[in-house]
Amino acid sequence: MKKIKILAIVGSLRKESYNRQLALAAKEVIGDRADFELLEYHDIPLMNQDIEYPAPEAVKRVREAVKDADGIWFFTPEYNHFFSGVLKNLIDWLSRSISDKEPQVLAGKPAAISGISPAMAGTSLAQDHLVTLISFLNMDVMNVPRLTIPNAMQQLDSDGKLTLKASYPYLEKQADAYISFLQTRIK
Ligand code: FNR
Repeated sequence: MKKIKILAIVGSLRKESYNRQLALAAKEVIGDRADFELLEYHDIPLMNQDIEYPAPEAVKRVREAVKDADGIWFFTPEYNHFFSGVLKNLIDWLSRSISDKEPQVLAGKPAAISGISPAMAGTSLAQDHLVTLISFLNMDVMNVPRLTIPNAMQQLDSDGKLTLKASYPYLEKQADAYISFLQTRIK
């Protein structure tokens, strides 16, 4: 079987983002079981149908990265009980057909969802909204397990970096489950 390719989409553009750090920890946990890349998308424009066709170069690049992946693992922050605007903007671009002949690239892709926040709910509301959106786009969502990590501040070292001491076993469980989920879907 060919090596699985996982594309991580982090819903925060912040350099020190806890969700980005969580995605990097997930990469470490996945190890050599799959190729694991983080999607860089800070350069995609705001969705505006005036510039939709031909697609901007940055949009072409992210579409290709999604097309090429066997699975998409979302790492979402929670903004006002929702996922972030930058993530919605990215998904809006990805949700559009490339041309009359090529459909949108998210349909059918197996998806996992994780998130971390400093608050008690640990992104669960944001994740529920994200599930609604990506289910509408016909992604194949792994709903169990999802990973919600609350109280991020309790898992920081003295430099403010995420240690994930308490959450690491749950991340490992989710990674194992996602690898199995992907294996059942890849021919
Ligand atoms: C937040 N934050 C936040 N946290 C939360 O748990 N529930 C929420 O509804 C919100 N709302 C919210 C709105 C806006 C506009 C911002 C900027 C932030 C706090 C948020 O969880 C925190 O800043 C995280 O650190 C963001 O994730 P990253 O950037 O660390 O990945």
